[in-house]
Amino acid sequence: MKVITTIDEVRDQVKSWRNNGESIGLVPTMGYLHEGHQSLMASAKKDNQRVIVTIFVNPMQFGPKEDLASYPRDLERDKKACQQMGVDLIFWPSADEMYDANFNSYVNVNGLTDALCGKKRPGHFKGVCTVVTKLFNITQPDRAYFGQKDAQQLAVIQRMVQDLNIPIEIIGCPIVRESDGLAKSSRNSYLSEQERLAAICLYRSIEQAKQMIKAGEKSVATILKAMQNVINNEPLAKIDYIEFVDFATLTNVDVLKQDSLCALAVYIGKTRLIDNFIYHH
Ligand code: PAJ
Repeated sequence: MKVITTIDEVRDQVKSWRNNGESIGLVPTMGYLHEGHQSLMASAKKDNQRVIVTIFVNPMQFGPKEDLASYPRDLERDKKACQQMGVDLIFWPSADEMYDANFNSYVNVNGLTDALCGKKRPGHFKGVCTVVTKLFNITQPDRAYFGQKDAQQLAVIQRMVQDLNIPIEIIGCPIVRESDGLAKSSRNSYLSEQERLAAICLYRSIEQAKQMIKAGEKSVATILKAMQNVINNEPLAKIDYIEFVDFATLTNVDVLKQDSLCALAVYIGKTRLIDNFIYHH
């Protein structure tokens, strides 16, 4: 497994694989890898002859008051996680390698990015789409793997490749959870012991919603109220948003229907966690 820091070297490696007719799967990440990331690598490994993992904490997608400086980083640990999964190449660029001093081009998906996290994190998805486009152009994969954990990100990237005719197949992968239900996230490392226990309330509220839906409830307002109750009963938790939207358009739905996305963002202390589920009949 190679760890490469320059764009030129990645291009050389990709060219030689392409000359051998080998297919390439890409897993973009910000590092501090866990089983969620590894499940994407496993899917990439299954579908492609070569797997590239990128590790880059992209400054452009962080707001001025967000956790860019404190975002967890540990390359040695990440190398082991990748090696375990049979990854061929890690691209680990510096911010200067990705953004030169005169950098001034951006990719923005309109509409979809006004909803959910986009409303709460202005500029976030512009940063995501710009860096993902750059990573696509640098690595030129056949397929790229994204987790449903970040459901809005997945929807936005799908829209972007379709709108801009980017010839890469986007593969969405299911959410990987801890044994108590908490969705795995690099940001879980911020949680104190007490906060870690409190963080289960996101999953609890999802379970509550699923139970009601199973019992026949279709009113989004009624389900939301019950979910809000679950979270509000946890003193360390503060709701940022809970919404039901159509997964394709991300516009709000009042009555549950096929492919409704229920997405939530909740502060546990200072840490903002997200989770979601998609409703299928
Ligand atoms: P990061 O948060 O590191 O996540 C990288 C990928 O792993 C994303 O596609 C995310 O949805 C997926 N992932 C994270 N936790 C997961 C879980 N518990 N189960 C399944 N998949 C999970 O998302 C980003 O980085 C960045 O925005 C990036 C796309 C790399 C652009 O900078």
